[in-house]
Amino acid sequence: MPGLIPERFIDELLARVDIVDVVQQRVPLKRAGREWTACCPFHDERTPSFYVSPAKQFFHCFGCGAHGSAIKFLMDYDRLEFPDAVEELAQSVGVTVPHEGGPARPREDRTDAYALLDAAASFYQRALPESQAALAYCKKRGIDQEILERFRIGWAPGGWDALKRTLGTSAERLKLLDETGLLSRGDKGQYDRFRERLMFPIMDRRGRVIAFGGRITTSASNAHSADNARGEGPKYLNSPETPLFHKGRELFALWQVRQANAKLLRLIVVEGYMDVVSLHQSGITQAVATLGTATTNEHAELLFRAAPDVFFCFDGDRAGRSAAWRALESVLPRMRDGRQAWFLFLPDGEDPDTLVRKEGKDGFEARLQQATPLSEYFFQHLAQDVNVATLDGRARLAEHARPLLAKLPDGAFRDLMFAELEKRTGVSGAPARSTPASRASHHAAPANTPRRTLVRSAIAMLLADPALAELVEPPYAFATLDKPGVPLLVELLDFLKARPGINTALLLEHFAGRDESPALQKLAITEFPGEPEALRKEFMDALRKLGEQTVQQRLDALIRKQAEGALDETEKNELRGLLARKAQPTPSR
Ligand code: UTP
Ligand code: MN
Repeated sequence: MPGLIPERFIDELLARVDIVDVVQQRVPLKRAGREWTACCPFHDERTPSFYVSPAKQFFHCFGCGAHGSAIKFLMDYDRLEFPDAVEELAQSVGVTVPHEGGPARPREDRTDAYALLDAAASFYQRALPESQAALAYCKKRGIDQEILERFRIGWAPGGWDALKRTLGTSAERLKLLDETGLLSRGDKGQYDRFRERLMFPIMDRRGRVIAFGGRITTSASNAHSADNARGEGPKYLNSPETPLFHKGRELFALWQVRQANAKLLRLIVVEGYMDVVSLHQSGITQAVATLGTATTNEHAELLFRAAPDVFFCFDGDRAGRSAAWRALESVLPRMRDGRQAWFLFLPDGEDPDTLVRKEGKDGFEARLQQATPLSEYFFQHLAQDVNVATLDGRARLAEHARPLLAKLPDGAFRDLMFAELEKRTGVSGAPARSTPASRASHHAAPANTPRRTLVRSAIAMLLADPALAELVEPPYAFATLDKPGVPLLVELLDFLKARPGINTALLLEHFAGRDESPALQKLAITEFPGEPEALRKEFMDALRKLGEQTVQQRLDALIRKQAEGALDETEKNELRGLLARKAQPTPSR
């Protein structure tokens, strides 16, 4: 039995945080009456259909159907597992997550893995000042003390097992060292993967060490070659992919960037560890690096979630140019209005590290100013292989451009790019809009809205204001009514009475996974404008009518049974009572 996070804690946590804050920190929201709105972060759209309700403490997208509580938002947006999302949220309000009994949860292994990776980073850090080779290398590369600390740069000592001996003190820890990629396996068994290398810890978005990159220091040259002269393996050795580290999903230094910039307006994507380190040291603290891979779609998503403007720096050589085009392809589907991408090609033989050291911060900033906007680079690149002076060439250009531009999300930028294509080629080409559904207006009833029955209304009201449950006490007069939804209504009331004070989002979370969940999600969107008092009255009215229907249903059943002559004495009494009650005037139908 795993150690669970107590439900009560989740209740209290969700009561403490405001989902508007949680979302607002990641997606800029605009006020819209009682709610907040934005373009949905979970699908591409040009008009906002994403709503956050402070009263219900949930988000809902009318375009793509995404919805849920603050926890669900963090899971979807930051791509966290449930316990991590809870942890994150708890941290944001300064509380500690309690765990109920039971042996280590499977996830606890991960906690151990993080702790071990952290210990490894500290081990490498401690080893650095003890190595003349390491110190000399840092000096040669001009890395200062403050930056060494900020990036937790360290040194993997020589020999075969310095780390293994220090941290692998039990069978369990040895296994963890292996699983976190810190060991290699050979004829001699397991040994330290990183030896005699300058170590760059790679951190996740919460600042936890998840992997390392290690550079050899023996190569005299700073040449960009994969193998050094002495055959000690690649110039940079990275951790292998592990459960904690997927290099296509991580960006080196994003954590440091976040730490250094309260409000992040731009990111500068470079190719190497040393490029990042030098830029940060020179005061350009928005530099991140992909980890020896091309820019993936996941990187592009991560980049634009962090900042609206992204600059890609590439070597001016062939490899750099093809990497740039690959980066362009991965950002195209993410170029929503408000986002911008630039491409900076560096002179031959230079990289951001060498350039910023030569030209200083101002020099590098000046180059960024001159960077090529995505739109220009796009047409430049496509035009380079065709002769746009000819009709044929222009047709070819249009043919290449259209499928790429079709990937752009709806918006002004997309329209402008198609207009530009038309200007350049004479071929008009904007295809029909892709997603009319995503632009359905807010609160417009979807075509398949189920009929609003009394039971549904009562449930919708309860979802709009869970405190309504306090107005009624069991046994509920309508509990035996044989109608769809009645057992659910009773269950909701019982649940709410047992957990007073919980909000809509949490209520929904409790029914997640149940067959009724989709229906509840839909009902929860219903708005009840007007005063709370009016809602209370409407709710009580609905329940009273349900009670009357219950009586009528019972009456009908008894009358049917009487016609069959099958009533016993108690039932006869009950029927008489009900008929007498029927005869009295009732306030409404
Ligand atoms: P570069 O070879 O351009 O190195 O590799 P660099 O960043 O300029 O490094 P210095 O200045 O010589 O120290 C760029 C990036 O490609 C990845 C690393 O992430 C590196 O920072 N790389 C390179 C590897 O993963 N392995 C290698 O063998 C070489
Ligand atoms: Mn370099």
